[in-house]
Parts: sequence; C-alpha cells; structure tokens
Amino acid sequence: MAKNVTKYKLEEFDGLRRAGRLAAETLDYITPFVKPGVSTGALDDLLEAFMRQHGGVPATIGYHGYEKASCISPNHVVCHGIPSPTKILQDGDIINIDITVIIDGWYGDTSRMYYVGKPSIKARRLVETTYATMMAGIEQCLPGKTTGDIGHAMQTLAAEYNYSTVLDFCGHGIGRVFHGAPNILNYGTPGTGVKLEPGMVFTVEPMVNVGTYQTLTLSDGWTTITKDRSLSAQFEHMLGITETGYEIFTLSPKGWTYPPYR
Ligand code: MF3
Ligand code: CO
Ligand code: CO
Repeated sequence: MAKNVTKYKLEEFDGLRRAGRLAAETLDYITPFVKPGVSTGALDDLLEAFMRQHGGVPATIGYHGYEKASCISPNHVVCHGIPSPTKILQDGDIINIDITVIIDGWYGDTSRMYYVGKPSIKARRLVETTYATMMAGIEQCLPGKTTGDIGHAMQTLAAEYNYSTVLDFCGHGIGRVFHGAPNILNYGTPGTGVKLEPGMVFTVEPMVNVGTYQTLTLSDGWTTITKDRSLSAQFEHMLGITETGYEIFTLSPKGWTYPPYR
C-alpha cells in the first residue's frame, strides 16, 4: 500500500527542520504587517524578500505556472488566492497565508490564519475550530495509525461544529519534492489508507467551511472559493513520523498557534 511513499532517514530530518523553521519564521515575520489598508501583493513582496534574505527560495514561483511567493486567501477564498496590489485588506477580513520555501533542496510548507483588524465572532469561531481540526489530525500521526485515521479525526471534529471539511484538496507527502505520496485527505475512515511509518514526512492542512464543502476554481486557474461564498479557513503544518510519534517541523519560534498572535 505504502510502496510509493518516500521515507526519510531520521538524520535527514535536519534538512526538513531548517526548511520548516524558515517557513514558520516567515509567517511570524509577516504578522505585524497584516492590517487594514495593506494589499496582498505588498505582503507577498515582503514574504519573498524575507525568504530570500534568509537563504530560501519560494517554491511556488514557477510551480505549474504560478508566479507569486505565497498564496493569500481571504474570507470565502478556500485556497490559492493570488496576491495582488489591487486586493486591499479590510477591517474584519480573515486571511490564510500559505508559503513554501526551499533550502538546500528541502521543502518547508506551512500556513496560518490572520485577523485583519477585529474579526466577527463567527469568523473567530471558524478560525479557532480550524486550528483544533488540524491538531486533531496531527494527534493521529503515530506509527501504526493510518492516513484514514487522520482524515476521520479532522472531519469528525469539524462536523461537531456543523462545519464541513473540503474534499477537493488535501495534505501531501513532502521533503525533497513539493507534493508527493501519501495524500492526507480531510476526511476518511479509521484504519484505511496508508499505514504511517517512521520517516514518512507530510503536511496536515485541513480547509474548513462554514457552509458547503463544495468549491469552485475561478477562471484564473488558481483562486478557489466556496461554492456558497461561505467563510473558509485553513492551517497547515509539516511533520515527520518518528519511532514514537511525530515531530512538527513548522512550529512558530515565537510559540504562536492561532490568532490573535501576541
Ligand atoms: N502551499 C500549497 C500547499 O499547501 C501549494 C501552493 S501551490 C501554488 O500545498 F502554486 F498555488 F502556490
Ligand atoms: Co501543503
Ligand atoms: Co502550503
């Protein structure tokens, strides 16, 4: 079953730690710049400069024709929002910033939610629940468990809040490549899928919607929104399976988890 899944030696986790740490530092760095009046294009410029100044290369530039250093997805945008100088953030928006950096051939991929000014209670509840959804998935990341256990835990937690998890996108194996096996679906059946083994490295990145799970991709070929225009949120960590559990490579050096960050 797991025959296409690359397993990394525990010594190789050092490269993944460095890539994951720079990705997380980049998300820490951008935090004070996220406020009403700033454009997503300006944030992308800052993110790109920070990654390069610290020895990283943005993995998204040139990836299947994508041209930006980040994906910035506000409100009902589920994922792959394209940063633009004309997209100005407004008080009350919630945004996901997703970046992937390459250092010495190792990929580091992570995303977080941010509040632009003061969020509504509805938005805040979604964001906090989406973080809890990701962590419920991560808690299943033990050797001997399966990818289906991860998806089931995430779908179940979101459903307890009457939210839906997105079926059209998923977490993925990562390491020397950006996207590889196994897929980490945002839904699943316990005990099914790929069995987790030490050395496997992948992301857990649930997208959670207030309304329908269904999505639409706009004519730019990237921007994906909820079909019913309901709010959507996402968090993403990259982790490796160890002999006894997991190691998260993209933890914030500042200890930040979900907003407000302070
Ligand atoms: N970082 C995204 C992920 O979590 C992928 C973005 S690909 C892009 O897998 F081309 F849209 F940037
Ligand atoms: Co990812
Ligand atoms: Co990502």
